[in-house]
Amino acid sequence: MTTLTIPAFATKRIAKSRISEVDFNNLEFGKYISDHMLMVDYVDGKWQEPTILPFGDIPMSPAMLSLHYGQSVFEGMKAFRNKNGDICIFRPQKHSERLNKSLARMCMPEIPEELFTQALHAIVETDANWIPTSEGASLYLRPVVFAYEPRLGVKIADHFKFFVLTSPAGAYFSKPTRLKVEETFVRAAEGGTGFAKCAGNYGGAFYPTQVARQEGFDQVLWTDAKEHKYIDEAGVMNVMFVIGGKLITPKLTTALLEGVTRDSILKLAPSLGITVEERRVSVAEIEEAFKNGTLTEAFGAGTAAVVSPIAAINIHGTDYNVPAVTPDSFQQRVKEKLNNIRLGFEADVF
Ligand code: COI
Repeated sequence: MTTLTIPAFATKRIAKSRISEVDFNNLEFGKYISDHMLMVDYVDGKWQEPTILPFGDIPMSPAMLSLHYGQSVFEGMKAFRNKNGDICIFRPQKHSERLNKSLARMCMPEIPEELFTQALHAIVETDANWIPTSEGASLYLRPVVFAYEPRLGVKIADHFKFFVLTSPAGAYFSKPTRLKVEETFVRAAEGGTGFAKCAGNYGGAFYPTQVARQEGFDQVLWTDAKEHKYIDEAGVMNVMFVIGGKLITPKLTTALLEGVTRDSILKLAPSLGITVEERRVSVAEIEEAFKNGTLTEAFGAGTAAVVSPIAAINIHGTDYNVPAVTPDSFQQRVKEKLNNIRLGFEADVF
């Protein structure tokens, strides 16, 4: 086991905490941002020393390259206080790997895993009193890297910033979601940036999601860009199905985000007695499984969403209802197991 040393980064503390404004009994996702943020500059070809400062605005040129050409990537992570009162950040190494894959795809400088992990621990410890302890709540961490250099020419920036915000957060979805299988718009094509957690993937999904909402759905269930025949993901979460007693999920391609929760569930599934199939999942197969009653579960998996039941899926204009979750459902059992690992009640197998 390696012990992490957290250097004493330069810190400017907030004059008056805003924590009294937080309703810890009603933690709407993303509403509250903790007192401090951590900021690191990339200049002269290297990442500089992090500083911790009060959360607030940063000076920005209207010619900043990320505004114009979209060099901006982020992560979504969670920190908890475990049963012994210790602070635990869930799978930082896996998130570091994914962030670096996103950065490489966007021609942005990778962040050494040690710097990333130290930065996360430092900011979480600075605002440790913001970590919620109520059931299902956590401190959501938002690391972001973006091009900061002002220049209108289309170029890869030379000056970047990496910052981390933290936010006490409850459930992302307040109820099971209704998804619409998308057959017109495209989130990502193979060879594009779908696997990277870059800002543009989210911005590009706003319009189709808005259309789906106007039609009474919560989210879009994206299909492949070529034929709209195979299921990809749901934008803010990966998707999983239980069909004929097996856990089935779309295999990763360059068009899908490699979810850390997805990976965790797939690793835990065998110990919960279920066979896993990671493969292409066609819309026709899902429709058939609804019709013949072999589809018993459908749920989303993501850092923010955790394990989120899906209530219904609309396929070619027909709503198919997913059976209700029971205490024996796979999704219920895996959610509990994940929670127990995060809180230290079960051994961390990751
Ligand atoms: C996450 O699950 O952390 C995400 O990034 C999805 C969304 C909240 C942007």
